[in-house]
Amino acid sequence: MCTEKGLIAHGLHSQIAMHRAYGGVVPELASRDHIRRVLPLTKEVLAQAGMTLEDIDAIAYTAGPGLNGALLVGASFACALAWSRGIPTLPIHHLEGHLLSPLLADPAPDFPFVALLVSGGHTQIMQVDGVGQYQLLGETLDDAAGEAFDKSAKLLGLPYPGGPALSALAEKGNVERFQLPRPMLHSGDLDFSFSGLKTAVLTTLRKLEAESSVITEQDRADLAAATQAAIVDVLAIKSLRALKQSGLKRLVVAGGVGANRLLRRQLEIESEKMGAQVYFPPVSLCTDNGAMIAFAAAMRVKSGVQQPDISSSFKVKPR
Ligand code: KG4
Ligand code: ZN
Repeated sequence: MCTEKGLIAHGLHSQIAMHRAYGGVVPELASRDHIRRVLPLTKEVLAQAGMTLEDIDAIAYTAGPGLNGALLVGASFACALAWSRGIPTLPIHHLEGHLLSPLLADPAPDFPFVALLVSGGHTQIMQVDGVGQYQLLGETLDDAAGEAFDKSAKLLGLPYPGGPALSALAEKGNVERFQLPRPMLHSGDLDFSFSGLKTAVLTTLRKLEAESSVITEQDRADLAAATQAAIVDVLAIKSLRALKQSGLKRLVVAGGVGANRLLRRQLEIESEKMGAQVYFPPVSLCTDNGAMIAFAAAMRVKSGVQQPDISSSFKVKPR
């Protein structure tokens, strides 16, 4: 729950444990679980804020991109609840939620800023001049950064979600042992390509297997460290290039991969060297959450970019 001033209550039910058994998100299970959880979670957040439905002016929901079934549960619940109370709804773009979430940090960045948006489905660099004023500067041509973490983690035998697991294993590894490619580093532009990385991880694993019959925990940790370093290097170098090219001095990092500790450390060190400031959302608001959607809605209303919708019709776009 958000007001124009910021976050007042937040609840999250994670489905990670449920999906782990299958090694990834199972869409049908995800939407069924949304149905079970959405009402108790709404009650919990209202209680946390010490409020009732009478106190709510409008209800925001994620309109996409995302899994159709899960989006439909959220949209239909939000619209039905709003209709029953005679209040409007606000369909919100998932990525805009991520993009504005660093404004929930203290201190919050002023506009304009460069944003590195790194999630399981997207890797983009944007110039953000204000609410609703977004210019795409570069993006991945294939896999997203989170996907590169997840797919490499799977090859290393790590559980879903791979990003945090690979990052934890990398802490025990020697980053110097394996050299993995940093794709498109010298392309001069702000685009990314991560699909070759999982092949490099696989090739390294095959080579290790051929050399000795057992792959040790240390081998896996060393390879995890090399993988993380390759992803983080490319993200950091391109983000700093975006700062230089745009002449801006503020960098904002958003999306699930923004929780990565090496990425945070590297960006902090590198941006300081060039006199720029880097902002991250609180770690708990990096991965998908409702607070960022409520906040983006409050910001859009406050800045006059979006009027609350009184029609109660659904607006869901999976892509
Ligand atoms: O933004 P998000 O929660 O969901 C999408 O919109 O995709 O991002 C999830 C992605 C996953 O790929 C996950 O492995 C990655 O963020 N992730 C991390 C870390 N925490 C989450 N990747 C690297 N290091 C982390 N600590
Ligand atoms: Zn997301």
